[in-house]
Amino acid sequence: MQMMLTNNPSHKKISFLSPASVIIAFMINNPITAIAHPNIAFIKYWGNRNQALRLPANGSISMNLAGLETRTTVTVDAALPADSLTLNGQALHGPPLERVSAFLDVVRGMAGIDGYAHVSSENNFPMGAGIASSAAAFAALSLAASAAYGLSLDEAALSRLARHGSGSACRSVPGGFVEWLAGDGDATSYAASIAPADHWLLADCVAVVAAGHKTVGSTAGHTLAGSSPLQNARLAQAEERLTLCRQAILGRDFDALAEVVELDSNLMHAVMMTSTPPLFYWQPATLGIMQAVEAWRSQGLPVCYTIDAGPNVHVLCPREKAAEVQQRLAAMPGVQQVLTAHAGGRAHLLSGSPNH
Ligand code: DP6
Repeated sequence: MQMMLTNNPSHKKISFLSPASVIIAFMINNPITAIAHPNIAFIKYWGNRNQALRLPANGSISMNLAGLETRTTVTVDAALPADSLTLNGQALHGPPLERVSAFLDVVRGMAGIDGYAHVSSENNFPMGAGIASSAAAFAALSLAASAAYGLSLDEAALSRLARHGSGSACRSVPGGFVEWLAGDGDATSYAASIAPADHWLLADCVAVVAAGHKTVGSTAGHTLAGSSPLQNARLAQAEERLTLCRQAILGRDFDALAEVVELDSNLMHAVMMTSTPPLFYWQPATLGIMQAVEAWRSQGLPVCYTIDAGPNVHVLCPREKAAEVQQRLAAMPGVQQVLTAHAGGRAHLLSGSPNH
């Protein structure tokens, strides 16, 4: 006779299966792998209306970054005494594991299935330095974990689920250029594609000036946003900037994009620097690159900068200018390396996984 976990709230309770359930028991023990790209926000998410549900203070727009990716495998295992997590081959405990386990609790709640899982994740880009590793991580985990626990969710539901793990992760679920609709509650706050990746051949040349972990992560940063006297001013015109950005993307208007993207990044960093306590993510090299990008644009090179919660500078340009921009950035003082990514597709299950 077969045994499996029931959906009894006391984890790991064993019951006997009917023959029809044997297939489900087999499926939930299959390792499921998903791949997701990080994304770079053109219009930033900073501050939550509801911190627990990650309902953002404003909508945001981003581009997925092909070339950079997280690959995550989830294996539900009835024999595990607790969830476990490895990242780039290293076992993680404490807060990172607790965050993943809390997320798996959401998935288990939706699936009505108990049973712990092993999560194994690999990134091909440096973490903790403003390249939104949590976005790719929780987007991939949403797809892999929901499939591993037997759920079949549509894109909007996967995006909502990813939001619970990390706000920006909801934008890494759909493909290409993506807008996260702030929504008015849990059900309406998710991301959708504005245009596919091949709509506009843009590149993001990421000038890495520090690849270590930042001292204040974005989750803690969001809780401080409301303490800045500038946050309300930033929010007051967020809708206008969203419209300008959406129009610039749809019309492939680089000058219009550059103007609104740099303004929005500067506004977010002004909020960060004026919160209590203040957050300064920039390093001297960060400002040097911002000024160089401005100068290059005034000389006719189509480039603009945007910076997330870290010191690295994302320099956007049309794809045919990426080699030149990469070369110029690599020659700047303080630049350790330049990662170049292009507009990327949606998060997906690896072929061979169920629901692929
Ligand atoms: C500056 O999504 O990383 O990159 O929801 O707490 O995981 P959590 O925060 P996160 O915040 C991203 C902040 C940002 C701007 C953005 O990506 O929109």
